[in-house]
Formats: sequence, structure tokens, C-alpha cells
Amino acid sequence: MFQIGDVEIKNRVVVAPMAGISNSAFRLTVKEFGAGLVCCEMISGKGIEYRNQKTIDMLYIDEKEKPLSLQIFGGEKETLVEAAKFVAENTTADIIDINMGCPVNKIIKCEAGAKWLLDPNKVHDMVKAVVAAIDKPVTVKMRIGWDDEHVFAVENALAAESAGGSSYSHARADACTNVRRCRKLGYLARCKKSD
Ligand SMILES: Cc1cc2nc3c(=O)[nH]c(=O)nc-3n(C[C@H](O)[C@H](O)[C@H](O)COP(=O)(O)O)c2cc1C
Repeated sequence: MFQIGDVEIKNRVVVAPMAGISNSAFRLTVKEFGAGLVCCEMISGKGIEYRNQKTIDMLYIDEKEKPLSLQIFGGEKETLVEAAKFVAENTTADIIDINMGCPVNKIIKCEAGAKWLLDPNKVHDMVKAVVAAIDKPVTVKMRIGWDDEHVFAVENALAAESAGGSSYSHARADACTNVRRCRKLGYLARCKKSD
């Protein structure tokens, strides 16, 4: 058993969000196989803002999936705050997760996903604003950095934590080269040590 904020999770098997895969049917299936926490695929903050029907349909949650973490993405603080408020008020998601790791072009060209990794101050401001807007735990899923020259794993983790984020998770690679260096270079340990 562990907790994220006040949400109790029965074991440490957390199924990562996967766009195009982590829909309600998938989440129910992995839950039946014993997963402790399931995450929905990333959902567009802009889609929520414009009440796009496809996006709204993606917010469906079956009570049997819970506890559930719902991941949103967006390139502007205001969009993410409004999306988080909508999710908090209109769904039974237990945790709101912010995507700071997606490296695909159509996401980063909107300043969303892994683009956040370039500026720990922006990370801090945005997470703080989302945390202040809702009363559910806010988590972030990030990468160790943008590219070789911009690896701010520790700075970004501390920024999210000091802004009131309840937890963060790390993909192992940076966004541009996708070289899997996190474990090798001990980034998780460095983030923990600097707590
Ligand atoms: C098909 C696919 C879709 C993904 N979609 C998302 C997503 O929506 N949000 C996210 O944060 N990560 C997404 N990821 C990244 C995964 O959550 C995970 O971080 C990545 O697969 C690395 O996991 P590993 O280190 O266990 O291999 C996706 C990965 C795959 C393979």
C-alpha cells in the first residue's frame, strides 16, 4: 500500500499512460489483473476547453477503475488550470497528472509535453497554479531533460515539489535523443537526494 496525497493505492504496480491504448476498457483489464493504479491516456487541455466531443468522451471513468490518475497536456498555464478544474468538477478522477514528457512534434510545437522541461521556473509556476485551483493531488510525469545540453531533471523535480506537486515520475530518456540514461546516470537517486 502507498499513498499519493490522500489517495490510497493498494500496490506499487502503476500502469503508465499510453496514448491510443489506455482507454477505459484497457484500464479495467489491467485492474482485473491486479494493477494498483491506472492512468488514462493523455487528454488535451485545449480539447477540454473547447468541449470537443471526442475529448469529453475520453474523460469517461468506470468506478471499477479507481483509483485512477487522469493525465492532461497543454502548453499554457491557463489552459492546464482550466482543464484541471473541469476534470476535478466533472469526473471522479482521483489524481490529475500533467504530461511533461511527450516528445512528438504536434505536442511540442504547442509548447506542451516535453517542452516544459526547458524551464524549471515555468514548471514551478504552472504546477503551483494547478495545485491552487483544485483539491485533488497533482502529479507530473517528466523526462530527465530535453536534450544533452538541457538536462534539468533535479531542477524540474524540485520545482514541481516546491509548487505542491504530490509526486513525479520519470521516463528514463531525454526527449530529443531518446537515449535511456536515467538509470545509468542515477537521476532518480539525485532527485531524491536533493529533497
Ligand atoms: C504507445 C505509447 C503511448 C504513450 N503515451 C503516453 C502518454 O499519453 N502520456 C505519457 O506520459 N507517456 C506516454 N507514453 C510513455 C509511457 O508512459 C512510458 O513512460 C514509456 O513507455 C517508457 O516506459 P518504460 O521506461 O517502462 O519503457 C507512451 C508510450 C507508448 C509506447
